Amino acid sequence: MRTKIVAGNWKMNNEKTETSSLIYALNSQGDFGSTRVIIAPSYVHLAQAVSLTVDTEIEVAAQNMHEATSGAYTGEVSPAMLSSIGIQTVILGHSERRAYFGENDATLAKKVTNALDHDMDVIFCFGEELEDRKSGNHFEVVKSQISNTLFELKSAAWSKIVLAYEPVWAIGTGETASPEQAQEMHAFIRNLVQEQYNGSLANQVSILYGGSVKPGNAQEIFSKQDVDGGLIGGAALSAADFTTIIKSI
Ligand code: PGA
Repeated sequence: MRTKIVAGNWKMNNEKTETSSLIYALNSQGDFGSTRVIIAPSYVHLAQAVSLTVDTEIEVAAQNMHEATSGAYTGEVSPAMLSSIGIQTVILGHSERRAYFGENDATLAKKVTNALDHDMDVIFCFGEELEDRKSGNHFEVVKSQISNTLFELKSAAWSKIVLAYEPVWAIGTGETASPEQAQEMHAFIRNLVQEQYNGSLANQVSILYGGSVKPGNAQEIFSKQDVDGGLIGGAALSAADFTTIIKSI
């Protein structure tokens, strides 16, 4: 059975006390069953988040990392630094990183490799723009993002990869892909992985949906066969909403 995952990407939100209050509130919600629950606060609060979630069901992830192991990269954070404070998962390829910070497939392939070299799990994000969907190119765009970045990996590396389909037009816009659109794309992605690798590997990889998932639509989206959970932005900033979404699985 595939692992169900709900991950909250806090983006550039929450100061120190808000970070601890939100974590306390999530911890008090208790039992998330077999669902893997991940939060991704900003770099400056990661160590604090790790210590507040010791012995809880909540895991802490980073929102990004640099592709090099160390060196003269002012302002950047390496995978070794993250693992040294207990971070075992990193989100890579978020559309905001691609759009505002110029991350492309080549950079992301290096980041993925370096994260894996540090034994980290990767939540790899990708998704089409509105124009791609309008022009019917969405499958091609998603295919090239995944294949350019991940298809050089050895099969064994895929146990550390989680895929997150995030149509850019649905992120922070209040607009979601319909459950049918999400399922159609997720099935397409699973099939791509099957063609490149094999059926059992494709069956094992968790594919998350992201883009305006809210308490009111989570259950319907998560009910789809190839949707294994969600990557949540705005709604992850409220303990009540995030918990409702987790429990919708
Ligand atoms: P959203 O963000 O839930 O606010 O649309 C999703 C994301 O960016 O991962």
